[in-house]
Amino acid sequence: MCGIVGVLGQHEVAPTIVEALRRLEYRGYDSAGIATVHRGKLDRRRAVGKLVNLSDLLVHEPLAGRSGIGHTRWATHGAPTADNAHPHRSGPVAVVHNGIIENYKELRADLAEHGLTPQTQTDTETISMLAKHLLDSGLSPVEAAMQCIDRLEGAFALAFLFDGEEDLMVVARKGSPLALGHGDNEMYVGSDAIALAPLTNRITYLEEGDRAVLTRAGATITDAEGRRVIRDMRTVQMDQTRIDKAGHKHFMAKEIAEQPVVLSDALAAYLTGDGIALPDPGVDFSRIDRLTMVACGTAFYACFTAKYWFEQLAGLPVEVDIASEFRYREPPVLPGTTALFVSQSGETADTLAALRYCKNKADRILSVVNVAESSIARESDLALPIHAGVEVGVASTKAFTCQLNVLLLLAIKAAEDRGRLSAEDRDAMLAALRTLPGVMNAALARDNAFEHIARQLSEARDILFLGRGLMYPLALEGALKLKEISYIHAEAYASGELKHGPIALIDKTVPVVVMAPRDRLFEKTVSNMQEVMARGGKVVLITDAKGAEIAGQDVWHVIQMPEVPEILTPLLYALPAQLLAYHTAIAKGTDVDQPRNLAKSVTVE
Ligand code: F6R
Repeated sequence: MCGIVGVLGQHEVAPTIVEALRRLEYRGYDSAGIATVHRGKLDRRRAVGKLVNLSDLLVHEPLAGRSGIGHTRWATHGAPTADNAHPHRSGPVAVVHNGIIENYKELRADLAEHGLTPQTQTDTETISMLAKHLLDSGLSPVEAAMQCIDRLEGAFALAFLFDGEEDLMVVARKGSPLALGHGDNEMYVGSDAIALAPLTNRITYLEEGDRAVLTRAGATITDAEGRRVIRDMRTVQMDQTRIDKAGHKHFMAKEIAEQPVVLSDALAAYLTGDGIALPDPGVDFSRIDRLTMVACGTAFYACFTAKYWFEQLAGLPVEVDIASEFRYREPPVLPGTTALFVSQSGETADTLAALRYCKNKADRILSVVNVAESSIARESDLALPIHAGVEVGVASTKAFTCQLNVLLLLAIKAAEDRGRLSAEDRDAMLAALRTLPGVMNAALARDNAFEHIARQLSEARDILFLGRGLMYPLALEGALKLKEISYIHAEAYASGELKHGPIALIDKTVPVVVMAPRDRLFEKTVSNMQEVMARGGKVVLITDAKGAEIAGQDVWHVIQMPEVPEILTPLLYALPAQLLAYHTAIAKGTDVDQPRNLAKSVTVE
């Protein structure tokens, strides 16, 4: 899940590439590097850590040239060192790569027989070594790159640059996304259109197996079988690519704060005077026997929440699964099944693979995505956008609530299609949903309440989260958010499971966050909470005014939320879960927007 960029420009490209890499840093920030061709000679600069280190290096050691490639790395093979940073160079060829080359050991063994030995621990260096070997055998740069690509197994997006070739770049896509950008007598390539946004909005997405030979004049694209193909050029909306902290200290803070606005936008996109309007060709849930929902991480918790909604509101059986398990388990997909994939990026390798597994097995493939042009969206029969806008913070916040929103609308529609919800009841639910952005604003206004609690939580080594019913998936999401950005070990349990084992962990050093609006399961959760407090456990209760009153005085801290109808609680209670994680991370001084070891878009399995 690294980010790659290439520019064949009219001016010096290093600053342009750095700027494009800044927009791709969400894909990884273990190291960054650039290679250019200047006066016929390849040269490169690489630096460990965030992109700023590379920018600093370029101030002292500038890199000239009007053609170049750049990379921001999330380490897979080989530690994040300067040697392992991309671009990898073997003599006259430099390469940047996103993905994993599965047969790199075999290729290395072959190359060793020709006396070629690697200088790094990466799989990527094997590509530049192989390309060099092919060039040395007398092939032209384009022939060498193509034959090299033919021999690669695994997932990759690649860009090659060659000594002596200032108007040539060869790129390829297999399993990892790649977008070509068209300028005025300039060509660009990037892992996504966002990277290229300041340069052009005219984008061609390469398809699976495509390769392209780029010059400043344009691109010649061939498909996996080597046939010349024309891929559409689209104009991508620039406002989707706006990235700015808007006065907030962190992108995560901005993205938490903008949830009421993006939720309003999403509701405006889906709600008409007559109810819920889905993009064509729509969905008729009365014809669906069961739903299989698959995703990873936070998106999986959105699916897990939606299972409760679909089952309770629509009586529709739902299976939810983690994509990395689903794809290899060979689960039977019975006739009557609709498969639904949820992904912010739309590029998550495991989710995409699970989608492909379901093709020709499920009746229909739906997806709920943030990036409308993503692979998952393009490979679905119907892609439903969540309208969250660009999410930069590595820890997902507004995408989660916007995923929940679309899934809830689908569940309400399913209930209606399946004759379990009258138009009147539907209207009441939608009316409540329309008020939610305002309620969220009220909840966000209590931001200060979190700082004091978070300071105390930041001293803990382990924190438990408990929830029941719709709050169970939210507890899982709260624990994930906390561990991602504060590095505190956090686990979530269904409240009722506590006494089946996890209660052994409880003592006064383990805070327990209980997510429990005053719903029909509240009393049961209170009993579980008492069990915790009876063993010295310190409870942080997230509830509403009624819940706070019933819970009594013994609770360590109460965070009070506005009251909303039960089906809306997951959207609202996502906010305190996010704020608790955010303020705890701030108290610990961690890097909130770019937590260690993570990347925003997970395009490797
Ligand atoms: C957590 C987080 C991840 C993603 C997961 C799936 O804050 O962001 O768990 O939810 O990697 O990513 P997408 O939604 O892009 O498929």
